[in-house]
Amino acid sequence: MRRKIIAANWKMNQTVADTESFLEDFRLEVEDVAGVDIVIAPPFTALAKLSELLGGSQKIRTAAQNMYYETSGAFTGEISAAMLRELYVKYVILGHSERRQIFGESDALINKKVITALESELRPILCVGETIEEREAGREREVLETQLRGSLAGVTAEQLVETVIAYEPVWAIGTGRTASTAQAQDCHAHVRAVLAELTDEATADKVRIQYGGSVKPGNAADLLSQPDIDGALVGGASLDPRSFAEIVRAGARE
Ligand code: 13P
Repeated sequence: MRRKIIAANWKMNQTVADTESFLEDFRLEVEDVAGVDIVIAPPFTALAKLSELLGGSQKIRTAAQNMYYETSGAFTGEISAAMLRELYVKYVILGHSERRQIFGESDALINKKVITALESELRPILCVGETIEEREAGREREVLETQLRGSLAGVTAEQLVETVIAYEPVWAIGTGRTASTAQAQDCHAHVRAVLAELTDEATADKVRIQYGGSVKPGNAADLLSQPDIDGALVGGASLDPRSFAEIVRAGARE
């Protein structure tokens, strides 16, 4: 039985003040919720405040939205794993489609980050997903396989269990267009099959695979009821404490 994991990806939104007021409301909303992992990925500037406010909470964990694979040095604008660990960050989103598309990140670069994160006891949330052109050409399975093999090269079975995969079809991100539950389940099952090829079936069975792309309170329960959908990575709807809490509750129920 895989415990559901519901994560907020705030992207380039929310100041420190916004983070404080979000958390005040959100904590009340999820007071009685149990049995689900809750993760919030604010921008780097709000990580310290979020960790401080959470004060070591086991219920809500912090995530970073990115990091660099080198330990230190002349890498202007970058953040290391140790810097995140110092702030009690537990997860790090890697290979988000916005990083791949806008900032030109390759599977080879993402792979280095995944390895560094795992070696630094940070759990990667590795994002994969096809573009609309790739889906229309019927290439989604092949694209997912290439991204997974490239980004997870050298990851051991033990490390894979610590890793979360987020399937985010690029055409469903921020568009209001969600993959149907059948489309999402089909891709999740394919991701799990590729993970089994990379390691073995028992390992792949333990890995949590989140769906991301226009997840809202209205579609969360349906998506989360699918056998291979183990959580959600939520963008827009995670900025509002009530709507994110509703998605978290759906995760606790399903
Ligand atoms: P939206 O929920 O805004 O579509 O964003 C999804 C996403 O990219 C989460 O990482």
